Amino acid sequence: MPSITLSDAHKFLDLNSFKELPDTHAWTLQLDDGSGSCDGADPDAVPIIDLSDGGAKELIGHACKTWGVFQVINHDVPKFLLDEMELAGKGLFSLPMHQKLKAARGADGVSGYGVARISSFFPKLMWSEGFTIAGSPADHARQLWPHDHHKFCDTVEEYQKAMKKLAGRVMWLILGSLGVSEDDVKWASPKKDGFQGGCAALQLNSYPACPDPDRAMGLAAHTDSTILTILHQSNTKGLQVLREGGKRWTTVPPQPGALVVHVGDLMHILSNGLYPSVLHRAVVNRTRHRFSVAYLYGPPSNVKISPLSKLVDHYHPPLYRSITWTEYLGTKAKHFDKALTSVRLCA
Ligand code: SIN
Ligand code: FE2
Repeated sequence: MPSITLSDAHKFLDLNSFKELPDTHAWTLQLDDGSGSCDGADPDAVPIIDLSDGGAKELIGHACKTWGVFQVINHDVPKFLLDEMELAGKGLFSLPMHQKLKAARGADGVSGYGVARISSFFPKLMWSEGFTIAGSPADHARQLWPHDHHKFCDTVEEYQKAMKKLAGRVMWLILGSLGVSEDDVKWASPKKDGFQGGCAALQLNSYPACPDPDRAMGLAAHTDSTILTILHQSNTKGLQVLREGGKRWTTVPPQPGALVVHVGDLMHILSNGLYPSVLHRAVVNRTRHRFSVAYLYGPPSNVKISPLSKLVDHYHPPLYRSITWTEYLGTKAKHFDKALTSVRLCA
C-alpha cells in the first residue's frame, strides 16, 4: 500500500458509507485473474469429510494432497457455538466506527480491529474489516463494551477451546495419513486433558455488501502461515481456492455446520512438500454481508519446524530448512508470496 499508511487505512474501513467503489479499493485485476472461470461449479467439489467415519484419515490425506482444503462434518463442535460465535462477531462489526477504533490494532500489533492483516503487501485496499484475537479477548473487548464484555469473552473463550481441540485432532489425522506417529512429533503429542502445545489466533472477518463487487477484493490471494486453519463461514459464499496447477478459482460453498480446513505453510514444510498449502481468497457480492472466523493454528513459538524425519531419506531429501513459527512470519513479511521458496534448501 504505497500511498496509504495502515493508520490512514482506518479512514477507509467504514465501507457501508461508500455508495460507489472508491479508487483506493478498485482492483485492476479481473477477478478471474485471466486464469479461467472464477466461480464455476467444480465438477469434483471440495471434499466433505465425516470425522465420525472410520476412513476419515485416508480421505483427509487424499484431500490434503489433491486440494489442500476440505470441509469437515461431525466434528463435535456444537452448532449453537458456531452460531453464537457468528452472532458475537457480527455484533462487534456492527458497532459504530468510533467504538471499533478504540480497539484498533497498533502499527506493529497483532490483536485488534483494522484492515486485513495482509493489506500492506498489496497496492489496493480490500473490501473487508478484520478483528484479530491472539490470546485472551478481554482487553480489547473491554474497550469495545466497557460495561458488557463478558458475554463476548465467554463465547470467544469457549470457541477457542473447541477449536484447539478440533485443530489438534485434525492435525493428527493429517500427520497420521503421512504415517507419522506421536513419537515423531513430540511437541504436538496429545495428552489426556486435550491437545497440548499448539498456539493460535482467532481472525474475525467482515465483508459488507459491495456496490461494485467485480472490481473489489474481500481478501486477496494468500496462503496461511499456519499448520492448519479452521474456518467457519456464514451462509454467504465468497471463499475461493486455487486448484492445483493454478488454472482456476473454485468456490468453497458454505454448508451449515461444516467447517473448512486449510493446509497451511507449516504443514507444507512438515510434510516436505507432500501436502502443499492452499492459495485462497475471499470475493464479495452486491447484496449480502458475509462473515467468517478463522482459527489460525500453529506450533509453540520456540519449536523449530522442519520436514519430518520419517518423510526424509536418501531419495527424499529435506526440501526446507528448519524454522520457528515466529521466524517464518518474519520471512513472510519480507517475501510474502515467495516465503516458502525462501525457506527452501538449495540442496
Ligand atoms: C481467510 O483466509 O482468513 C478468510 C477467508 C474467508 O473469509 O473465507
Ligand atoms: Fe486465509
